[in-house]
Amino acid sequence: MSTVSTSNVKLSMTPLFSAEEIAARVEALAAQIDNDYRGREILMVAVLKGSFLFIADLIRAIKTPTVIDFVRLASYGSATQSSGIIEARKDLEMSIKDKDVLVVEDIVDSGLTLESLRTLLLNRQPASLRICTLIDKQAQRVTDVPVDYIGFSMDDGFIVGYGLDLDERYRNLPDIRVVEGT
Ligand code: IMP
Ligand code: MG
Repeated sequence: MSTVSTSNVKLSMTPLFSAEEIAARVEALAAQIDNDYRGREILMVAVLKGSFLFIADLIRAIKTPTVIDFVRLASYGSATQSSGIIEARKDLEMSIKDKDVLVVEDIVDSGLTLESLRTLLLNRQPASLRICTLIDKQAQRVTDVPVDYIGFSMDDGFIVGYGLDLDERYRNLPDIRVVEGT
């Protein structure tokens, strides 16, 4: 465990998933996706910002032809809790009509962010829509949004690293750590 201090709080961080464990899971997910999308082209919808490292690793591990576009959502709330009020800060630039869409998220927590994104995308009539998340926090779920590919499951706790932030910090950590003291 290590202790870091920001402007006024001391946080302790406990390692949860190592860089090696993450890399192994990404390879396994890519193999599963390749198997399911054989003979098709994936339109990957990357949900910024938290998924950016996961996306970068996943897309390089996938062998199926893949195109990518980005969406940026913002949910109002505190640093560690989503409010369920979602705003699209940056929309897709590509049309997803009749495409095989694979949404890639960092974390599904309450599921509210993903539920509203899913509704938005389904209105644009993709041929199919599947969801991949690096982290699934099943215990926190308040919606029944379907998640097709899951990197890791965890129950509780706030995590940072490998793209995940606490108030925009710690995205650059190569591994995933649980933060205490928020
Ligand atoms: P939801 O709407 O409650 O499912 O919130 C999901 C979003 O909240 C994720 O895409 C993350 O951006 C953020 N989030 C939830 N839990 C964590 C966490 O433990 N660390 C960092 N971000 C988180
Ligand atoms: Mg997010």
